[in-house]
Amino acid sequence: MGTQEGSGLGPARPDTNSEKPASVAKAIVVERLTHHDIPEICSLYKRVWEPFKSELPVEILRAWTPTPLEFTSSMEGVTYFAARRDTKMVGAIGCHISDGSCRILHLAVDADQRRQGVASALAHAAVEWARHSNCHSVWADAPAKLEMAAAMFIQLGFRECGLFHRHYYTEDVRLFEMVL
Ligand SMILES: CC(C)(COP(=O)(O)OP(=O)(O)OC[C@H]1O[C@@H](n2cnc3c(N)ncnc32)[C@H](O)[C@@H]1OP(=O)(O)O)[C@@H](O)C(=O)NCCC(=O)NCCS
Repeated sequence: MGTQEGSGLGPARPDTNSEKPASVAKAIVVERLTHHDIPEICSLYKRVWEPFKSELPVEILRAWTPTPLEFTSSMEGVTYFAARRDTKMVGAIGCHISDGSCRILHLAVDADQRRQGVASALAHAAVEWARHSNCHSVWADAPAKLEMAAAMFIQLGFRECGLFHRHYYTEDVRLFEMVL
């Protein structure tokens, strides 16, 4: 899959910083993650999930903030895309394909880069990857208390399709799907 710049699902958001002067606005570039990027993606996940310490069970936070070694072991069968702005990694997403369906995993965007289309560009890459891989649907799950995640999936055209109770340790989990 090639590089994409600032694209999202639904209406195009070619330059999501359009209110900023052109000299400041930097395009979002989404590319496949390589092994060289592993330390950087692990730092991103630490930055994103540390503020949720008091909200999410410690087991979830541990799983979502892997060390580079743990991340490397968990990469098997998962295709990751990273979003960069001005060369810095600001967001990431994983895609796990099974039984003709693509599950979105580990979507996270740096707090100071949110509401600028980064997750939309990453989700677009995931959906394109799913299509490229002949999937018939894309699905995602998120702890019910992460309302920002639910709002985003629905805005991106996913349909809420269920709820797992106490699925991530003590957490209820909302399910979202997009039929391709
Ligand atoms: C959820 C998350 C990935 C969204 O990333 P983002 O780059 O800010 O998302 P986008 O800018 O592409 O947002 C697309 C749309 O989703 C909706 N949305 C995103 N964040 C939202 C929020 N906090 N509240 C309400 N709606 C939101 C909006 O409709 C938004 O469009 P708009 O900005 O034009 O209104 C980011 O907030 C994040 O990393 N949160 C912490 C980790 C997390 O919740 N991961 C989700 C998987 S478990």
